[in-house]
Amino acid sequence: MNTLAIIFIIFLSATPLSASNANIEVDYCIANRSLPKGHQGYPCKDPAKVTTDDFVFTGFRGEKIITNIFRNNVTRANHDTFPALNGLGLSMSRLDLGVGGIVPVHSHRTSEIIVLINGTIIAGIIDTNNTAYFKRLEPGDVMIFPQFLLHFQVNVGKTRALAFVGLNGANPGIQITSTALFAGNLPAKIASQITLISPGEVRRLRMIFDRIGTGQ
Ligand SMILES: *[C@@H]1O[C@H](CO)[C@@H](O)[C@H](O)[C@H]1NC(C)=O
Ligand SMILES: *[C@@H]1O[C@H](CO)[C@@H](O)[C@H](O)[C@H]1NC(C)=O
Ligand SMILES: *[C@@H]1O[C@H](CO)[C@@H](O)[C@H](O)[C@H]1NC(C)=O
Ligand SMILES: *[C@@H]1O[C@H](CO)[C@@H](O)[C@H](O)[C@H]1NC(C)=O
Repeated sequence: MNTLAIIFIIFLSATPLSASNANIEVDYCIANRSLPKGHQGYPCKDPAKVTTDDFVFTGFRGEKIITNIFRNNVTRANHDTFPALNGLGLSMSRLDLGVGGIVPVHSHRTSEIIVLINGTIIAGIIDTNNTAYFKRLEPGDVMIFPQFLLHFQVNVGKTRALAFVGLNGANPGIQITSTALFAGNLPAKIASQITLISPGEVRRLRMIFDRIGTGQ
């Protein structure tokens, strides 16, 4: 092999690595939330002003009250509530479900991994072939919900359920199909047409969300 070919091969194999390493110029980028957010997150806080507390999130402490129609309370540690996550492609949530509580069918921009700490839930995903994969989880069980796929959780136990989830994005978003269709600005007529749900039922669902909000 001639020298030019070797250099070419080295160039090919080295380029992607050096291109991504070239972007890593800081150890971390704690969000300065008083500056506007871009599509990759927030600009960094002045490193001279960073303290240990910036790396610690205490929002999962204590009892969570459950008041919404879904009988859940979701506490999110994302780059808005825990600025140290900014740019790290990582976030967490604490999930409390009252008896009979649910996380309605929804999706994220990221994958999600759940570990059940207390209680008994049925968790599941529905893939693009409309195949549902769901299972009764006991404390200690872990389940994965691949990115973008619809998934849900239902407390089927006689006590509250407690779980934590990890997501591979600092701002994974959440899109709940029922609130997207019936709690937003989509006209009732269109909501009925695109779901085949009767106009009367759409009106009933919209009235519920008007009254109680989305609880998100
Ligand atoms: C955040 O940005 C604002 C506006 O530029 C600046 O005044 C402030 O000092 C910054 N805060 C930190 C902790 O870097
Ligand atoms: C979740 O629980 C916390 C702590 O009790 C409470 O401040 C918050 O309002 C609750 N959120 C919802 C949506 O009920
Ligand atoms: C788990 O549930 C039991 C029974 O409801 C309760 O006594 C206990 O405090 C719960 N533990 C946690 C970590 O929530
Ligand atoms: C898709 O679903 C159908 C039945 O609903 C099933 O027979 C088929 O095996 C599924 N295909 C894949 C690739 O999972």
